[in-house]
Amino acid sequence: MEQERTTSRGSHTGADPSSLLDGADPAPLYTPFSLSGVELSNRFVMAPMTRYFSPGGVPGDDVAAYYARRAAHLGLIVTEGVYIDHPSAGTSDRVPRMHGEDALEGWRRTVAAVHGQGGRIFPQLWHVGARRSAGAPPHPDAPVTSPSGIAPDGSTVGEPATTADLDAIVASFARAAGDARRVGFDGVEIHGAHGYLLDQFLWSVTNRRSDVYGGSLRARARLAAEVVAAVRDAVGPGFPVVFRFSQWKSSDFGARLADTPAELGALLGVLVEAGASGFHVSTRRYWLPGFEGDRRTLAGWTKKLTGLPTIALGSVGVAAPYREDGTVASSLSIAPLLELFDRGEFDLVALGRAVLSEPEWPAKLRERRLREIRPYEKSHETELS
Ligand SMILES: Cc1cc2nc3c(=O)[nH]c(=O)nc-3n(C[C@H](O)[C@H](O)[C@H](O)COP(=O)(O)O)c2cc1C
Repeated sequence: MEQERTTSRGSHTGADPSSLLDGADPAPLYTPFSLSGVELSNRFVMAPMTRYFSPGGVPGDDVAAYYARRAAHLGLIVTEGVYIDHPSAGTSDRVPRMHGEDALEGWRRTVAAVHGQGGRIFPQLWHVGARRSAGAPPHPDAPVTSPSGIAPDGSTVGEPATTADLDAIVASFARAAGDARRVGFDGVEIHGAHGYLLDQFLWSVTNRRSDVYGGSLRARARLAAEVVAAVRDAVGPGFPVVFRFSQWKSSDFGARLADTPAELGALLGVLVEAGASGFHVSTRRYWLPGFEGDRRTLAGWTKKLTGLPTIALGSVGVAAPYREDGTVASSLSIAPLLELFDRGEFDLVALGRAVLSEPEWPAKLRERRLREIRPYEKSHETELS
């Protein structure tokens, strides 16, 4: 398998959907999977994508229909990031929330629409931490809360969170998870990736604390572990609790939480002990090795180290990596994905931009209707179709 499948910008021939299969047989991805007892009809997951289509934080029937259209084709939907019930959690009043009867009713209808298509759905629970713009809605007066008052881009923002702030945040995640279960969701995903609050704690650049929440990797993972444990308590033993993490940050594609498999094992071990049921490994290119000196991907390492259900992701079916960095894929072929699946490196694969543009992507791939696939374009991010 090619290790680096990107070339300099210039050739866009790889973006032709007819090159997707490249002789490979995708049938193994259409087998069922049990995620902590929740039966998924195939191995495709819709990745969480913020859409800003929930005015006042309430998902409407258009949002329900958007997810339902995809639920017929993907084993699992992970919703866009959903704010927990903490005043500093958010930075927009068009992002949905997981609190308040109006929003919870919107979610009830969304879950019913997804279940009506035979799909499964988890909300992604989110606190943005230092990525909140001071004065932004939904709570303009709320402070910007983060580990050390440092944003992932190095700028200083707000004040370091107090222990009381952190206790309140942990309790908010737990309340949101309990409410998610009550309105019918099949599981929850905790957003621990991309430089938002929990990741700000995990990352030594944004976490300079000298209390029990800072210092060693294990200490930096403490808040995430407390959140997982509190969520687990709120939802009970059988309910899936997936933790999403990434090495990269939006402000730094080369950032790393773990430099070695041993460090990754230490980090994930803390979350497994706390009660995580699986991991969603966010990379920008799914096929790249996780660490130097070994071809295994980050998802592959995650699965090997934890033995838990693992979701891989990153530029499946899309030519340019998420967050443009001046490279485009030389091929859209999913042959490498199937090879990794065959090697047991992941259980499920998430699709972001591919299904934002084309709700029927898995069906069209399976039926080899490749030329009918609507290729992703940035402008699709402003539609809710
Ligand atoms: C419009 C858009 C919004 C996104 N919002 C979120 C989000 O709310 N939470 C999250 O964890 N990732 C978010 N992402 C990242 C995606 O989940 C995914 O990791 C990324 O698009 C790479 O996958 P892809 O190459 O299949 O698109 C977003 C991506 C896009 C394109």
